[in-house]
Amino acid sequence: MTAANLKIEPPRLGEPYLLTPGPLTTSYAVKEAMLRDWGSWDDDFRAMTREMRQRLLALLGDGSDDFDCVPMQGSGTFSVEAMLASFIPRDGKALVLANGAYGMRSAQTLEYLGRDHIVLNKGDYLPPRGDEVAQILTDDPAITHVVAIHCETSSGILNPVEEISEAVYAAGRKLLIDSMSAFGAIDLKVADIRYEAMVSSANKCIEGVPGFGFIIARKSELEAAKGNSHSLSLDVHAQWAHMNKTGQWRFTPPTHVVAAFLEALRGHDAEGGVAGRGGRYTCNRDVMVDGMRELGFETLLKDRWLSPIIVTFFCPADENFVFDRFYELMKDKGFIIYPGKLTVVDSFRVGCIGQMDEHVMRQVVTAAKETLDEMGVQNAAPPAIALEERAKLAA
Ligand SMILES: Cc1ncc(COP(=O)(O)O)c(C=O)c1O
Repeated sequence: MTAANLKIEPPRLGEPYLLTPGPLTTSYAVKEAMLRDWGSWDDDFRAMTREMRQRLLALLGDGSDDFDCVPMQGSGTFSVEAMLASFIPRDGKALVLANGAYGMRSAQTLEYLGRDHIVLNKGDYLPPRGDEVAQILTDDPAITHVVAIHCETSSGILNPVEEISEAVYAAGRKLLIDSMSAFGAIDLKVADIRYEAMVSSANKCIEGVPGFGFIIARKSELEAAKGNSHSLSLDVHAQWAHMNKTGQWRFTPPTHVVAAFLEALRGHDAEGGVAGRGGRYTCNRDVMVDGMRELGFETLLKDRWLSPIIVTFFCPADENFVFDRFYELMKDKGFIIYPGKLTVVDSFRVGCIGQMDEHVMRQVVTAAKETLDEMGVQNAAPPAIALEERAKLAA
């Protein structure tokens, strides 16, 4: 099945569409999968955990035999922390590539963990590039690991992880990727891009509900991670070893969330896997961005860096535009959008992921037009300072 003939049902329970980067709008089948209880020690649930891990590994393509998948209770941040603490040895040093809130959160996590690190901070607009990474690694031989954010969800920028990976391994260092909001919609095939470990979570592009994340890591790194973690519950090596020995999670698993996620993985497969899912999201983005630009809105990013995950728009300069009112009026029309997370100018975000297709995105644009009219906003163009800032920083 391709994105073109996949049937997306409107939410049956009458709830608004979530144009947010997760939790997101899920299918009815995913919700329905949570309508029964599972014994966490029972063979049926162990089989579900096993199938889930196998399906996730299969998304890595050829070469996935060298990797294993370790689900981890908690939200995505718990899995990022687990990855950083487990794979960066206590005497290691990390280079964090930051261009938004999630890169900065990884740096903050390393601070908490007491792991030596430096940050390449590119601000809100720009991706870290391979040649910059290569230079930093040449200048600082103590760096053992580089931490990259695949899609920096705070702006929606899609970072060039392939060229970053090339620079990292050319310098003989190791790459860890936070692919939270990209995995499942954007390829991270191990035959194409080298890395030691990556993380994502249940409520992003696979379209499950929140409750756990997962770390996919090279088996040799999983072996070597023994004893690195500061934390009992977030120790990836311990979770992995226990799961492989017993088939069980170490501590109470989010059983219903796993059941929903398995259903979501089947839906992902039926849509054509990463290519099918990514194709639908790309179409969602293109339809929505074209329509919003026709209304006068401007995107934060140039087309080259726009991800098919979430798009940041500048708030209009028109004095009648008030974000909170725009939000409420959009919600009244059935669409929940997302506030911006930029440091310099006012912005908001519209997500392209979840059970939505281009028809829904056209309705979003119509709702935005009607909302601007209701607010008396004549022109959705951003203030000159936003465009000057963008031109200056992106130069
Ligand atoms: C790139 C990235 N990293 C980390 C996180 C943190 O995940 P959570 O909010 O589930 O803890 C997110 C959440 O959106 C994200 O997009």
